[in-house]
Amino acid sequence: MTQSRREFLQASGAVGLLGALPNAGFADSEEMAVMAARPARVQLAPSAYPQTEIWGYDGQMPGPAIRVKQGERVARRFVNELPQASSVHWHGLRIDNAMDGVAGLTQDAVEPGKSFDYDFVAPDAGTFWFHAHNRSFEQVARGLYGALIVEEPVAADVDRDEVLILDDWLLDPKTAQIDPEFEAPHDRSHAGRRGNYIATNGRSGFTLPVKRNERLRLRLINAANARIFELGLAGLKGWVMAYDGMPLAKPELVEGAFLLSPGERVDLFVDVVAESGDMAHLVRIDDQQQYSQTTFTVAGDAAATPRADPAPLPPNPNMEIEGVETARRFRLNMEGGAMGGLNAAELNGERNSFRQLAQANQFWAFNGAVGMTDAPLARLSRRETARLEIYNDTSFPHAIHLHGMHFRELLKDGSVGPLRDTVLMFGGETREIAFVADNPGKWLFHCHMLSHAASGMMTWIDVS
Ligand code: C2O
Ligand code: CU
Repeated sequence: MTQSRREFLQASGAVGLLGALPNAGFADSEEMAVMAARPARVQLAPSAYPQTEIWGYDGQMPGPAIRVKQGERVARRFVNELPQASSVHWHGLRIDNAMDGVAGLTQDAVEPGKSFDYDFVAPDAGTFWFHAHNRSFEQVARGLYGALIVEEPVAADVDRDEVLILDDWLLDPKTAQIDPEFEAPHDRSHAGRRGNYIATNGRSGFTLPVKRNERLRLRLINAANARIFELGLAGLKGWVMAYDGMPLAKPELVEGAFLLSPGERVDLFVDVVAESGDMAHLVRIDDQQQYSQTTFTVAGDAAATPRADPAPLPPNPNMEIEGVETARRFRLNMEGGAMGGLNAAELNGERNSFRQLAQANQFWAFNGAVGMTDAPLARLSRRETARLEIYNDTSFPHAIHLHGMHFRELLKDGSVGPLRDTVLMFGGETREIAFVADNPGKWLFHCHMLSHAASGMMTWIDVS
C-alpha cells in the first residue's frame, strides 16, 4: 500500500517522450499599503462554466504578487473582509516571529472587519509565498495565497521571470463552485483534499508566448492542499537553480521527472529549445498520463544559439549549519491515518482511543500526541544546532514544513542535502535534518498537506 519515492516516479513513465509535444505597495508606516482578503468571483474553469466564488487577497486569485529587492521592507495592512477570522503567513521567510502570521501561536486570528499590520524586511533573495494561516485547509483551498518574490541585488541573467503557482481545486462539475466539505473525514485520514481541476495561476490552459533560445526563470510554487505535483520539461532545457528560495551551489540539470510537494518552491532556468512554431511544456504526470500544466508557444528566435550553462545564483547570508556532529538530537514519529495502525494517542492532554479520535475528526499524531501540545517538540537555545530524525510510520506521504528556519537533510552517505523549508517523506522513510535555531520565537512544524495539519500533524519548536 505504501508507495515509495521510486515507485511514485516510476509509475509515471518517461517524460522525454513528450518532447514532440516593482512593488507598488511599499509605503511608509503612516500610510501602509492595504491587502484586503475578500470573496470574489473569477473565471477559474473554462469559459463555458460559470465563474467560481473564491476568497482572494484584493479579490484576486492568486493574490497580487509582492516583489521587493533583497533587504527591502514589506509592509501590508491586512484587512479581513471575509466571513471568517484569518491571518497571513509569509512562507519561507526568516523574519521576526511576531510577523509569522500563525493564528493561535504567534498572533490572534484577525476577526472579520479587523486588520493587522505586517511589517518586516525580506532578508533572503528567492521565491517565497504568502497564504492564510487560520483554517488553512479551507482558506488556502478557497484561494488565499500569492507569490512573494525577493529579487537578487544584481538581476539574474535571464530574459524573463515568470511565477507559476500550481494548484488543484475541488469543484462541483456542474456549477464550478468550490466543494465546501473542507473537513471531510475521508480526505483527512487519507491523502488529504485533492482537487479535480488543476490550474496554473488560477487559469486552465495557462499559456505563455516565448521565443526559441530564450532563457526564462520559472518560479514554481505548489499551493495545493495535498497534491504532490510530478513535473517534467518538454521542449525546454532546464536547471534547478534553487529550492524553497535557497540557491544551489551548483545548478542541477533537469533530467526526467521531479516532485513538488505542497508548500515547496523550485526556481528553474529553462532555455526554449523547441522550434519556432512548436510548443514547449511544463509537463504534469498524473496516473501515468502526461498533461500540459503550462504551455509555451514558440514564435521567432531570441538568439541564433543557446546560451552557456547558467552560473549559480548568489547564496543567501548566514545559512551555514555548523556543529552538526555535537548537536542535540530529537526524534519525530509520524503516526496514524488510514491503514496506519494507530490505536490511541493524546489529544488535549488526554489519552483517546482511535475511535474517539475519529469522532473528533482527528487522525494523525506526532510522537503519540494529536495536534498542538503545551510542550514544544524541542526547546532550543538561540544559535543552537539541532538534529531531528523523522520517521514516517504511516501509509501516506507527508510534506513537513518548518517555519522560520531552513534545514539541510543529513544524507546516509555523509553528505548534506540542499537548504529547504519542507521535506517530503514517503511512508516508511526515515530522514534526518539539521538546522540552526538562529531565530527566537515559537515556530510551527507541520505537515503542509493542510487537511493532515488540521487533523493532528502539527507541533512547534521553541527558540529562546
Ligand atoms: Cu506554508 Cu505553516 O505554512
Ligand atoms: Cu501529511
